[in-house]
This record gives sequence, structure tokens and C-alpha cells, in this order.
Amino acid sequence: MKVGIPKETKENETRVAGTPLSAKKLIAQGFEVAVEKGAGAAAGFSDSAYAAEGAVLVDAGTALGCDIVLKINRPTFEEVARMKKGAVLLSLLDAYMNDGLLEKLAQQGIDAIGMELLPRTSRAQSMDVLSSQANIAGYRAAIEAAARYRRFVPMMMTSAGSAKPAKVAVLGVGVAGLQAIPTIKKMGAQVEAYDIRPEVKEQIVSVGAKPIDLDIGEEGTGTGGYARELSEEGKRKQQALLTEKLKKFDIIITTANIPGRKAPILLTEDAAKGMRAGSVVIDMAAATGGNCPLTEPDKVVIKHGVTFVGYTNWAGLVPADASEFFARNLTNLLALIIKKAEDGKPALHMNMEDDIVAASLAVQQGQVRFQKK
Ligand SMILES: NC(=O)c1ccc[n+]([C@@H]2O[C@H](COP(=O)([O-])OP(=O)(O)OC[C@H]3O[C@@H](n4cnc5c(N)ncnc54)[C@H](O)[C@@H]3O)[C@@H](O)[C@H]2O)c1
Repeated sequence: MKVGIPKETKENETRVAGTPLSAKKLIAQGFEVAVEKGAGAAAGFSDSAYAAEGAVLVDAGTALGCDIVLKINRPTFEEVARMKKGAVLLSLLDAYMNDGLLEKLAQQGIDAIGMELLPRTSRAQSMDVLSSQANIAGYRAAIEAAARYRRFVPMMMTSAGSAKPAKVAVLGVGVAGLQAIPTIKKMGAQVEAYDIRPEVKEQIVSVGAKPIDLDIGEEGTGTGGYARELSEEGKRKQQALLTEKLKKFDIIITTANIPGRKAPILLTEDAAKGMRAGSVVIDMAAATGGNCPLTEPDKVVIKHGVTFVGYTNWAGLVPADASEFFARNLTNLLALIIKKAEDGKPALHMNMEDDIVAASLAVQQGQVRFQKK
């Protein structure tokens, strides 16, 4: 059974769904591994490093034409057209996009697992790309914030004078926020943090930040560990209260998202106007509309004297580890849908009794199974 690892074609993508290490593990399990030439180059993995582990270097069509295709980003329609009937795809699918891609996969007879659809349970953790990538993203966003800030992050006492520690706010404390807090705290910042889910307060304290309290009259706990969208009244109250609180911060890192929806606005233009010149906003929700209306996706802009960073692929800025973690998540999930055949070789076994497979298999045998909630 052949596993194909094509080069990612999405703009700004530096990651790859298989590394020399993951190729080695798959080959040890009895798979043949076909890697598109140059697929790992942007992450620092050379063709010869894959070849040294026993992978075969191929062209894009051959990698896409394998029995199992591993990808980071959802395939394009053209890529789907190059895949073969009966193949299995493991990749992010952005299933909520509703642009006909799932139907195209179904027509083509491809079974597709959407890596963003896994349940967020303890058992699924080793396969959870949202967590592994958000963790890296939170770390990298904190590094970016410190580098863009034109002052010291820690308190500094020198013979030439002293500098105050940077005041940092982290808004949205899921996986990325929980990593951004200790990363910038270790640099010496004073960190406060806010999330709409009240149960997160304890976690904020445990990673060394002070919780920001807002009384908006409703809670934002949704299902599966995620937030739910606030009422229009709740959104207005939240924005008004935050506008006052946020003006005092030098660095704001925002990560607030609600699955399948536009990101909530937490930092209004008025709040940004009130921030000190030279302050920095890292808007990690830029890909889903941004937590601040002034953010521009994939750009760094200065408005009202404040620097807004709207990168949309934070994990891709740490491409080697992000690829290793993503590849490990994929191979762990692959193990769930494979069993050993009588000849000792791996064979497909789509076990629908398994809750992880059942939740993530978006397309099966010509049918779209994914349903938007
Ligand atoms: N295996 C597991 O058990 C597992 C794995 C990963 C995540 N989780 C749970 O899922 C949670 C969220 O994960 P994520 O990081 O992918 O979330 P996410 O990227 O969807 O959202 C980031 C954060 O934004 C917050 N948010 C949304 N709207 C907001 C608003 N209006 N104001 C303030 N904050 C707002 C959310 O509550 C969330 O904490 C985790 O904190 C955890 O509880 C569980």
C-alpha cells in the first residue's frame, strides 16, 4: 500500500505532511512511501533525507495518485481530480467552507478524513492537529510580539536608566493562548488574560497570568470545549468593557475563535486608538476575519501608531517542528484505519465503531457524511 506525500501548494505554506522520520516509521509498518520532490524543502527536509529513510521521490501526480494521501491543507479541486478512486485522504478539509470540495471528493470516490473534525477527547489528543499546531502558533506569536515591540519586554535596570516591563494581554485562552502566556511571561512581561469561557480562569492562573474579569451577563461555554457565539447584546457589552480595559496594554495577542464562524471582534478601533504609540497587536484570528477590524490578513500594518500583525500561518513559521508534529498526528490517526492483512502487510479497515473515525470521516464511499452543526 502506497502512501503519497505531495508538496503543499497553498500560498505561504512551509510545512509538509510527512517528514523523513514519519516516512521511516511508515516504511517500518510495511507501507511504501512516495514523496514529491522538494516537498520538505521549505521545512528544511531535503529529498536525500527522505531517500535515506527508504522513501521514493516522485512527481506531484504520482504522490497524489497513491492509495493513501497525506496533506496539511485541504486539496484544491485540481489536486482531487488527480487522486484515484478508492484512495483515502487525511488532511485538513475546512469542511465548514461549503464550497463543493467534499462533493467533488465523493464524486471521485475518495474517502476523506478531515483532521479538524476530530473530537477533542483525551484519546484523540495524539492525533489532534488543531492542538499541536495551535501550541506552536501561540509560542511563535509571543516571539513575534516581543520582536515587533520597540521596547524591552522585561523590566531592565541599567546604568543608563531603567525600563518598565511590557504589559501584555492575551485574549482568547485556548491552546494557542495557553502557550502564548508562559512564552511571553518567561521573557519578563506582566501578563493578563481573558476568555469568554469561565472555566478557563483557573488555567490562566496556572500559567502565571492574571485573569481579566468582565461582567457581560452571559457565559460563552459551547460544546466540546469550544466557545459559543454571544448574543448581539453580549457582544456589544463585551466590546465596550474591553475597549476601556485594553488601552493600558503594550502588547495584545488575540486568539479568539468560534469553530465555523467569523472571529469575534474583541479589540475595537477605539481601543486601538487609545493604546500607546509603538504598541503591538498580534491578531491570531486574522484567517477567520480577525479579532480587530484594523488587522489585515498576512500583512503587518501600522495604524494609529500601533503595529498590527495579521499572519495566518503561525505554525508555518516554525516549519520543521510543525511538520514533525503534524506528521505524527497523521500517522497516529492512520493507525486507527489500518490493520495487518494475512500477508502481514497493512490493509485499510475503516472502523466506524471508533468514535474518532466516525467523527472525522467527512466523505465515505461516494457520500458526504459531514454535517454542518
Ligand atoms: N483533547 C482535549 O481534551 C482537548 C484538546 C484541545 C482543546 N481542547 C479544549 O478546547 C478548548 C478550545 O480550543 P482551541 O484553542 O482550539 O479554541 P479556538 O481556537 O476555537 O478558540 C480560542 C479561544 O477563544 C475563545 N473565545 C471565543 N470567543 C471568544 C470571545 N468572544 N471572547 C473571548 N474569548 C473567546 C475560546 O473560548 C477559546 O478558548 C481548549 O481550551 C480545551 O478546553 C480539548
